Amino acid sequence: MSALIADLRRAAAERDRLAAETTDRTSPSSGDPLVVYFSSISGNTHKFVEKLSARSLRLPLRTHEEAPVVREPYVLAVPTYGRPGGSGAVPPQVVKFLNLEENRRQLRGVLGAGNTNFGEHFCLAAQKIAVKCDAPLLYRFELMGTEQDVANVNEGLMKLWQ
Ligand SMILES: Cc1cc2nc3c(=O)[nH]c(=O)nc-3n(C[C@H](O)[C@H](O)[C@H](O)COP(=O)(O)O)c2cc1C
Repeated sequence: MSALIADLRRAAAERDRLAAETTDRTSPSSGDPLVVYFSSISGNTHKFVEKLSARSLRLPLRTHEEAPVVREPYVLAVPTYGRPGGSGAVPPQVVKFLNLEENRRQLRGVLGAGNTNFGEHFCLAAQKIAVKCDAPLLYRFELMGTEQDVANVNEGLMKLWQ
């Protein structure tokens, strides 16, 4: 029985280690740009961020999970999930993250993800956060972005971190 429990513990530890590897590409020793992002299970923003030459930290999928505290400058990438009329555009997981004062203090800019089908509400979440947190809206891209979007954002991040 105790061998089984030990096996289960080892399996759980390995699962946590793998989860940390896939969701947290930060390295405290690096001076490279840091992108913190939310991406739902559709994963468009995740696919975009993965292509950047930057460290990244994915916010928890579930709102009840604890939001991380980021103690260094970062850029936030956020998709919009609006209701008709534009309310509720900012995912609650991002609201929870930005409710922490330290996280707002380290925010250097916002990258908007969205879909131009939503017309004037394209990337509304990023626009709202930029205004509310007094941070520049650095860039907007559709879905998982194009190669040109990746190149443009990489260039912008390099300049911001110089
Ligand atoms: C219910 C719903 C509402 C959305 N509302 C907007 C919107 O108001 N503006 C916008 O630009 N994109 C909107 N989108 C598009 C998403 O922002 C887009 O698909 C994004 O790439 C999702 O990112 P993710 O896959 O990383 O979660 C909406 C998508 C869904 C499913």
